[in-house]
Amino acid sequence: MSVIAIDGTFASGKGTLGKALAKHYGFTYLDTGKLYRAVGYAVLEAGLDPADAGAAAQAAQDLDVEVLSNPILKSGDVAVAASKVAVHSQVRAALLKFQRDFAHDDVGAVLDGRDIGTVICPHAQVKLYVDAEPKERARRRHTELTGYGEDITYETVLAQLAERDHRDKTRKEAPLIPADDAHLIDTTHLGIEAVLSAAIKITDAILAMRQESIL
Ligand code: C5P
Repeated sequence: MSVIAIDGTFASGKGTLGKALAKHYGFTYLDTGKLYRAVGYAVLEAGLDPADAGAAAQAAQDLDVEVLSNPILKSGDVAVAASKVAVHSQVRAALLKFQRDFAHDDVGAVLDGRDIGTVICPHAQVKLYVDAEPKERARRRHTELTGYGEDITYETVLAQLAERDHRDKTRKEAPLIPADDAHLIDTTHLGIEAVLSAAIKITDAILAMRQESIL
């Protein structure tokens, strides 16, 4: 059983890479950001404040995985709420088991998020850290949001992105940092095919080394 842990910044391309890698290796895939988005959405829907640790923890404990396929989770407001509920340790604790159970899939699993290689799966065989320059990430995200029909300017997206990066990287609990043994991939000037082939090269080399040490 192999686990590929992908961490990285918002709109760096880690989700696209995660899905493509899972398809390539026949592994299952989990976008863990959706869990935090679902919690943020539940708090907003209840008319409560994502900064309220008690309300957010309750929403995390009551999480219904059915909501993970709801397209509303893609919205900008939900993303901001997600990064606010994600600072609470009780929220992270409530979501831990679901993620670890998912990673124990017999076939192999790809999980992407912010703390997969550091906290959720510290023993993952393959760890990737994906990043890109903020302006390029904001451009991608702006194109995506306007594609869903959201009325939002590039400047607002860039400002939200800076705010979320700051919150994710400076929070006390499971901050976004590359694991010591993570392989860094900068996607600023790379298309998906180039990113995927870089990741496959890294993964194949690690899995082959592991195979050799088993034999
Ligand atoms: O990846 P995505 O942008 O959907 O994540 C939304 C938010 O959820 C992030 O900004 C981050 O605050 C939080 N998150 C997290 N840990 C993860 C995945 C997401 O804290 N493993």
